[in-house]
Amino acid sequence: MANTASLKIDDKEFPLSVMIGTEGEKAIDVRKLRADSGYLCYDQGYGNTGSCESALTYLDGDAGILRFRGYPIEQLALHSNFIETAYLVIYGELPNAEKRKEFGLNLRQHAAIETQMQKIFEGYPKDAPPMAMLASIVASLAAHYPHLATNDFSKDLASFDLATAMAMSKIRTIGAMLYRYMNGKPYIAPKQDLPFCENFLHMMFSEAHQDYVSVPEVARALNLLLLLHADHEQNCSTATVRMVGSSSANLFTSISAGIGALSGPLHGGANVAVMQMLQNIHDDGDDGSRFIAAAKSGSKSNRLMGFGHAVYRNFDPRAKIIGQACEDLLKKLGVNDPLLDIAKRLNETALKDEYFISRKLYPNVDFYSGIIMRALGIPVSMFTVIFAIGRTPGWIANWREVAANPKGRIYRPRQIYVGPTVRDFVPMEKRT
Ligand code: ACO
Repeated sequence: MANTASLKIDDKEFPLSVMIGTEGEKAIDVRKLRADSGYLCYDQGYGNTGSCESALTYLDGDAGILRFRGYPIEQLALHSNFIETAYLVIYGELPNAEKRKEFGLNLRQHAAIETQMQKIFEGYPKDAPPMAMLASIVASLAAHYPHLATNDFSKDLASFDLATAMAMSKIRTIGAMLYRYMNGKPYIAPKQDLPFCENFLHMMFSEAHQDYVSVPEVARALNLLLLLHADHEQNCSTATVRMVGSSSANLFTSISAGIGALSGPLHGGANVAVMQMLQNIHDDGDDGSRFIAAAKSGSKSNRLMGFGHAVYRNFDPRAKIIGQACEDLLKKLGVNDPLLDIAKRLNETALKDEYFISRKLYPNVDFYSGIIMRALGIPVSMFTVIFAIGRTPGWIANWREVAANPKGRIYRPRQIYVGPTVRDFVPMEKRT
């Protein structure tokens, strides 16, 4: 493998060093290129830019590989649960029994939202977009817990543990409260004795006179869904968290920015689009063939939602896991969802179609996650909020890598300026 590279501009050569990751990923270090040559690298959308070194997640889009801290996603999905995987993502190792207990206790102790913070909800219209409310309420954690709103946990790891537990546990609680608020229902307080996912379902679905008790399959499916979303390399929201964190902004503020990035339909909102598409096919009485034909027209507005991925070019390993889990769950719950039948038909037809085969378009994680959430009783308006709860460990871990890096610098990309060249100010009376 090459150790050095060089860039020739006209007749001048600029030597560049090569970086190799632990899985053999190759990169050319261009940090000094502008200073040496006067040229910067242009990479709109950063599609070919490594913005950091990270020890968290390994992803090979061509081979369909996803690993957290070296552990294959398939093994974690089979043997672990969301909280254990969150610990792994954040702290780098699977917890032993003592660490796991301590982590769980911390999460349970910091689950509640204080009365003063609850008043923020009342400031929003009931039909406000949930992700907009979530982003601003999470940002307010920095105002409510100013002693934790620091980026310097280097000497004070206990405070990082506390901020981590608060972020994970409270974002989950805020998510459930948003649902109650939007539906005009009183909030349900978290229970100390319930595990993370069961507690979420309790806060969502219990009533004052009757506790919701989740069946194990339901809690397991939610665990799996959150686990599969725990981290995903330098996606838009994670890169946003790192960007904000690089200015030494605190954890809560950085996560709030990530929630804003996730709210976009091209990122966290795709599972909503999948459900809308499946519902439209169902309502039209179509077998899906008209949608497939339209998707093949090449128009962006007719794409087969839940198909294709910016990074995975063979298959999305999360989609394989979730597709099977979706079928198992519906079978166990005895749910007969016509949208699942449509999804399966679309999947089978598209995978045999030359258009999709030649473009390497396969189902992504969003293709089935909406059907699972529907089976759990979670409404479409909450889908992206659930994604945010699942992605929180990844955001925390990425933020930590930035905050703990003694050689880190503020993220500050450059640009190619294409505006007007210099011109003199024109007084108002002379402007046309
Ligand atoms: N349906 C039909 N055609 C598609 C689809 C699709 N879902 N996705 C890509 N194509 C076509 C494009 O039109 C293009 O065709 P062409 O070569 O004839 O011009 C070709 O496949 C390559 O597409 P790109 O736009 O280069 O793919 P890109 O990597 O930029 O986009 C994306 C990836 C945005 C995910 C795209 O596949 C898409 O829009 N999918 C549907 C939305 C979706 O499911 N998003 C969720 C992603 S997963 C996540 O965020 C958690």
